[in-house]
Amino acid sequence: MAIWEISVFFAGLLIVGLILVDTLRSGISPMPSSRKAQKAMLSLMPESINGPVYELGSGWGQLALAVSHKFNSVPVIGYEMAVVPWCISRLWLFVSRNSNVTFRRADFRHRELGDAQMIVCYLFPGAMTHLAQQLKQELQPGSVIISNTFRLPGWEPEKVLELDDMHRSQIYRYIVQ
Ligand SMILES: C[S@@+](CC[C@H](N)C(=O)[O-])C[C@H]1O[C@@H](n2cnc3c(N)ncnc32)[C@H](O)[C@@H]1O
Repeated sequence: MAIWEISVFFAGLLIVGLILVDTLRSGISPMPSSRKAQKAMLSLMPESINGPVYELGSGWGQLALAVSHKFNSVPVIGYEMAVVPWCISRLWLFVSRNSNVTFRRADFRHRELGDAQMIVCYLFPGAMTHLAQQLKQELQPGSVIISNTFRLPGWEPEKVLELDDMHRSQIYRYIVQ
C-alpha cells in the first residue's frame, strides 16, 4: 500500500470516528432533512422576518443556507456541535459566499436565543423536551418555531403538515403566545 493510500484510509477512519463520537454525544446523527421536508418547512415560514433566525443543530448546513436565500436581509445562525458536519457547513458557506449566514460550533442549550424571530430544527425527542422549556423562557411573543418530525412537548402546534414520505413525517409550526 502506498503512503497516500494509508493516509486516505486513516483520514477516512478519523472522520467516521469523529461522526460516531459526536452522534453518541449529541444523541442524534447529522442526517439532513429530506428535500420534501425542507420544502415543507420553507412553505410554513412567514413571508417576511425582521430579526435573527436560528437553526438548532444545523448539521451539514443545507437547510440554513436554504433559509438564508428566502430571508436574505436577516442573520441566519446555525448552531452545530458535531465537528465534521460543522466543517462541511463552513465549506458550503465559503462556496456559496452567502453573507447573512453564520455557522457556530456550539451547543445551543447553552446559548441565548431570546432575540430569535424564528427557530428551525430537526432534532430528537430528548432535545425537544429541553427546548420546550428553554424556548418558553426565552422567546418573545410572535416568534415562530418550525420543527421537522418532532413535537415540542406541552406546546400546541398552530399548523401541522404531513409529508407523503415513507414515515408520513410531520412538520410542526408553533407561534409563541
Ligand atoms: C438530524 S440532524 C439535522 C440537520 C439539519 N438541521 C437538517 O435538518 O438538515 C441534527 C443535528 O443536530 C445536532 N445537535 C444535536 N443536539 C445539539 C445541540 N445540543 N447543540 C448543537 N447541535 C446539536 C447534531 O449534531 C446533528 O447534526
